[in-house]
Amino acid sequence: MTETLLCRLDDIPNPGSRLCDFGEGGWPAEGFVVRKGEEVYAYVNVCPHAGHALDWRPDGFLTRDRSMIMCSAHGAVFEIETGLCVAGPCPGKSLRRVPVRVADGRVLVRPAGQTLDQARSRSS
Ligand code: FES
Repeated sequence: MTETLLCRLDDIPNPGSRLCDFGEGGWPAEGFVVRKGEEVYAYVNVCPHAGHALDWRPDGFLTRDRSMIMCSAHGAVFEIETGLCVAGPCPGKSLRRVPVRVADGRVLVRPAGQTLDQARSRSS
């Protein structure tokens, strides 16, 4: 199972977010990435509250101060690093994380179902 190039790290504002397509019709089809420094986090673009897409404008997934992820539908607020909802209508629920890693300025997405540990062992 090989990793796929998602985008370049420099394509994502820092800090910032960007809508992206993780695959062709497969799981997960649409998601988003969030950059904090040299770290990138990726999630499926489905809110665990009521299943809406989170973005409230093109590539807009973050709070005004860019410290948290926010859903546009009813204002659920999620931690960037974990996807855990910490405020709003679904506290304790989480966004569905997509395994990505950064290598040589490239953001790589792992195939669906592959755990972080599996990916690390195959890439080393
Ligand atoms: S669907 Fe996201 S807060 Fe309701």
